[in-house]
Amino acid sequence: MRNLFYVLLASFFFLSCSAQSKNKGSQPLAGLKDVFSNDFLIGTALSAEQIRQTNPKESEFIRNQFNALTAENIMKSEIIHPEWGRYDFSLADQILELSKKDNQKLIGHTLIWHSQLPAYVRQLKNADSVKMFFEEHIHTVASRYDGKVLGWDVVNEALNEDGTMRKTIFLDKLGPDYVTEAFRLAQKATPNAELYYNDYNNEQPKKRAGCIEIIKKIQAAGVRIDGVGIQGHWHLGKVPFKDIEESIEAYAALGLKVMITELDIEVLPRNFSGADVNQRVASNPSLNPYANGIPDSILQKQAKDYEDLFRLFLKHKDKISRVTFWGVHDGQSWLNGWPVRGRTNYPLVFDRNLQPKPSYDAIIKLKK
Ligand code: XIL
Repeated sequence: MRNLFYVLLASFFFLSCSAQSKNKGSQPLAGLKDVFSNDFLIGTALSAEQIRQTNPKESEFIRNQFNALTAENIMKSEIIHPEWGRYDFSLADQILELSKKDNQKLIGHTLIWHSQLPAYVRQLKNADSVKMFFEEHIHTVASRYDGKVLGWDVVNEALNEDGTMRKTIFLDKLGPDYVTEAFRLAQKATPNAELYYNDYNNEQPKKRAGCIEIIKKIQAAGVRIDGVGIQGHWHLGKVPFKDIEESIEAYAALGLKVMITELDIEVLPRNFSGADVNQRVASNPSLNPYANGIPDSILQKQAKDYEDLFRLFLKHKDKISRVTFWGVHDGQSWLNGWPVRGRTNYPLVFDRNLQPKPSYDAIIKLKK
């Protein structure tokens, strides 16, 4: 009897120890959304494939790591409004369902943008037709998702690098007040969504000044604008920390929420900055140095940039409502295909196998 008791006791210890060590071995990766839950939302951009949830492991990973979703492409006008008067909401409705199921905020990206326009809009010649498209598009898309999205990038990339207004079909046919008009229409169509202006390089002093001018103009017209998105497509070793901090402060001083909306830190060579999707560079092997793997020294350098960035974001967490990565993992990043096609890039904090990179560890460490 006594022996039996000892055998049982020993087996109990053995089982509980092995259960514990098993648990330790497969400890789930801390979710970025949980680590920063008292600071800001942590978002990601989903491809059509990810919205269709064809890879269950990846879907689970997305659910565990992020609490905000942006559609990387499928809410843009060329996809959601492919022909005059015809809309295709199938994938947009799917990302909405996904965000509801997984308890994530959904960001609409984007209502008015000169890129990824449907072909029929690019061909419009007369101002009345452009105006009709502009009004109908904003009304139809924004009202459909009212009360369902957290916010919309109402206008994307309306500025040149020097802070003047970019020459687009909208500026050309509707005049410089089109940005204010877009916000006025969006406010009417979706009273429950936050309304944002979004751009790249708008942390740079000249473009920032242009951005502030646009915001003040919207505000002076008595139209609502709730936030400004700094896309955050930055480069290894060249992240403009001082400009970023000054911009966060300047935008917040206008009463706006600040968001980092498309974060990535590119590691491959390129001879210009910014993120104009229409700018292309010819492919050349010297522009693709890490096709067979990336040196650890580069990953460590990237970790330092990410660490410094998140330290800055945490310092200003009272002003920053969301930090969204432009993609889930390195393999999905648009920077594998832009501005040079067919490269192997490493701009995010998770690698191609959904494993955390030194950059992930570095930002998590800030909260320990
Ligand atoms: C990019 C997507 O990631 C790509 O898949 C697509 O081919 C081009 O657009 N600024 C933006 C985003 O506002 O919508 C862009 O997304 C990247 C630059």
